[in-house]
Amino acid sequence: MKTELIKGDITKIPADAIINAANSSLLGGGGVDGAIHRAGGKQILEECIQIRNRQGKCKTGQAVVTSAGNLPAKYVIHTVGPVWNGEEDKSSKLLEDCYKNSLQLAESLGIKTIAFPDISTGIYKFPKELAGKIAVETVQNFQSDSIEKVIFVCFDDDNEKIYKKLLD
Ligand code: APR
Repeated sequence: MKTELIKGDITKIPADAIINAANSSLLGGGGVDGAIHRAGGKQILEECIQIRNRQGKCKTGQAVVTSAGNLPAKYVIHTVGPVWNGEEDKSSKLLEDCYKNSLQLAESLGIKTIAFPDISTGIYKFPKELAGKIAVETVQNFQSDSIEKVIFVCFDDDNEKIYKKLLD
């Protein structure tokens, strides 16, 4: 599985699937969640509401999939990152689950390229260095026969610097 680093807006990335840093309501929000719903259109929200009606809220660390509406991607995988509360072990495990469950869901759909934002490092205040380390290690340790490329999409300079160091 190849990894790539891109600085920019994940809604513009033509990967098979892009990952959304959602909240448990699945009804949209700010940050990358807001950007994906704005750019993707109401189709994504409609499917999220159907998922909510079927299974209830999305638990932290879990992942669900919708179409990508007007986005260049084919799917959006919505995962809920942990809110940073200082409990490093528990939060790190939940963040690792976000990457693992998103990759497993992507693999089950035969997805070949997948783009991640820096989950939990915005509104949820997860320390960026630690989050980057968890993201890169979890992806690099994930064995997949079908996923060919994982793109880390950084939106800010801090994260870009962190990922550049981690991926070199
Ligand atoms: N493309 C790529 N990355 C983005 C974009 C974008 N268009 N917009 C924001 N980001 C980056 C942020 O800079 C941050 O590094 O995504 C990362 C995650 O930040 P948030 O989007 O704030 O997500 P998170 O910290 O996981 O908090 C989730 O925020 O938006 C709400 O509904 C969401 O309640 C949930 C919470």
